[in-house]
Amino acid sequence: MRTVLTRSPAIAARFLSEGQLAAFPTETVYGLGADARNAVAVEQIFEAKGRPLDNPLIVHVADESMLRSVVDAITPAASRLIEAFFPGPLTLVLPRASSVPAVVSAGLGTVGVRMPAHPVAHALLEACGFPVAAPSANRSGRPSPTTWQAVRDDLDGRIACILQGERSTLGLESTVVDCTAEIPVLLRKGAVSAEELCAVVEIASHSAVPVPKQPSRSPGMHYPHYAPEASVRMVDRTRAPGPQTAYLGINMPAHADGFEVIKLCSDVAEYAHELFYFFRHCEQIGIRTIYCEEPPTEGIGLALHDRIKRASERR
Ligand code: TXA
Ligand code: MG
Repeated sequence: MRTVLTRSPAIAARFLSEGQLAAFPTETVYGLGADARNAVAVEQIFEAKGRPLDNPLIVHVADESMLRSVVDAITPAASRLIEAFFPGPLTLVLPRASSVPAVVSAGLGTVGVRMPAHPVAHALLEACGFPVAAPSANRSGRPSPTTWQAVRDDLDGRIACILQGERSTLGLESTVVDCTAEIPVLLRKGAVSAEELCAVVEIASHSAVPVPKQPSRSPGMHYPHYAPEASVRMVDRTRAPGPQTAYLGINMPAHADGFEVIKLCSDVAEYAHELFYFFRHCEQIGIRTIYCEEPPTEGIGLALHDRIKRASERR
């Protein structure tokens, strides 16, 4: 298949309305979209990514009426979170409406919904006029793409279209909150921090409240994730480098001379913005080991911590 590159949301929308796949930019990472009402189209997402069928997808909506069309109920806590954070980098898990085929949610009775704040993503959803199911637009297990070139590296020839935009500003995926329980549960840390959520609603976090054996609440969390070809290690700034080692962090490493590449970020937001981009850059220049300085454990730093940890668990 030839993958068409375009900067036109209307052209990408045409592919989606024909039941084909189109990748598109969002403020978090690039997504790989299909018409969320079309089970056959959605199945192709799993095929193109090599994604396990038991890992549910997020449905992207343009506005509140589209949101209402994909869920059966909006709980009071969800209403408050929508009011505070939509559009933006937050995904809410709510009861799934029958208009959304089961394959979107890997057979769960719930659906993850997100309203992106990105102008190009919004233009695409408006041009479609229907909800778009989209995971991150990487091959399964790889770092999420933050540029259209990274999408092309992973999926060229496997999808119909890439809607080209700028590099994603946040660089880490959305926060996922399950709102089906009485007290919402934080399923995936992300760009909206736990502190920000807790200022709006009470949140039961997995780490704060050890839930006895509930493995399938967010099935995707159990798969290996985010790993580039190079191996990733979370370190403090004093760790001495091995051969072909790169360093990413906020503070200058103690053994600066031994690194092939050093990328310093001015704060934790820039660190998040750089992470996946740096992983892919290191891969392209043949780095064998990537040292990531342990990030501050607050705000988006906790999401960053989670991604680095999981990228380092691959081998
Ligand atoms: O920022 C983002 O969230 C990006 C952009 C493209 O929107 N998307 C993204 O999708 O990161 P993906 O598929 O890579 O991650 C979706 C996460 C997975 O951990 C999945 O298990 C969880 O959301 N999820 C989706 N629907 C769910 C549901 N109904 N119940 C529980 N977890 C769900
Ligand atoms: Mg993903």
